[in-house]
Amino acid sequence: MAIKVENLSYSYEQPTGEKIEALKDVSFSIAAGDFVGIMGHTGCGKTTLIQLLAGLRLPAGGRISVDGEDINAKGYDRSSLRQKMGVVFQYPEYQLFATTVEKDVAFGLKYSGLSRQEVIARVQWALETMGFDFEKIRDQSPLALSGGEKRRVAIAGVIARKPEILIFDEPIAGLDPYGRENFMRFAAGMNQAGTTIIMASHNMEALAGYTRNLLVLEEGRLIDSGPTREVFLRLEQRKNGVFGRTKAQKIAALLAAGNLALSPAVVTYDDLLSALKRELAGGGGG
Ligand SMILES: Nc1ncnc2c1ncn2[C@@H]1O[C@H](COP(=O)(O)OP(=O)(O)OP(=O)(O)O)[C@@H](O)[C@H]1O
Ligand SMILES: [Mg+2]
Repeated sequence: MAIKVENLSYSYEQPTGEKIEALKDVSFSIAAGDFVGIMGHTGCGKTTLIQLLAGLRLPAGGRISVDGEDINAKGYDRSSLRQKMGVVFQYPEYQLFATTVEKDVAFGLKYSGLSRQEVIARVQWALETMGFDFEKIRDQSPLALSGGEKRRVAIAGVIARKPEILIFDEPIAGLDPYGRENFMRFAAGMNQAGTTIIMASHNMEALAGYTRNLLVLEEGRLIDSGPTREVFLRLEQRKNGVFGRTKAQKIAALLAAGNLALSPAVVTYDDLLSALKRELAGGGGG
């Protein structure tokens, strides 16, 4: 399922009547099966963009189409959008409410038309995909779980519907390195299985290491977009080059200043490791 965003703008109105332009003339497209990161400083418009993509807010200008259909047009079938798209908002763990994990995850399947057996199979699949032992977790109260476990249950509730497109707003914020890595591997696995993934994050390393394409927002404007590696290399060349640099890029810059320029250019930690290994083996390459 393809998404096309054309000249999208959005403003929040303050109680004083003053307007905050959260998105300004943003255009991009996302192909089916892509893994796209949304990157940018706090307040740049990531969450606003996600809410617009999910059809939860009306654009002030421009258009969002999904598979060629304007999602805000009169007569557009919103329920089909909800079926195709699963959105996991930031800190979804606060949205758990059922008495058991199984009921919570099954909630979104209520009107799916699946039989009871099919629902259980889906719930089992979703919980196992999120790394749980189904029999152990199904009857537990969500309230008794740790923060990270609650978040995985909440995500299971969204993926149980098997949406073609999964949108995550800061899914790894507040997780430990192991939890972050696990989540990114899960997202990559879902993507390999055909799900389109869109993920807003402050974590440059995660975006650099896993996404295929990147959208970069700055104060509501899309300042760059394209293949992840190319975007990171371009951002590095910007005048105030602090923005968008991964840790590996920063280390490579230090090494270059100390007369050890690595080649090809480093973006991810893996790039850095293999370039250093080549260097130490005497290969150089630069
Ligand atoms: N409900 C709201 N009412 C008024 N202004 C808002 C509202 N939500 C967001 N804004 C403003 O819109 C702009 C974009 O906010 P948004 O939440 O989309 O940014 P973000 O990139 O998701 O930030 P973060 O990284 O902190 O999550 C900010 O200037 C913010 O102050
Ligand atoms: Mg946000």
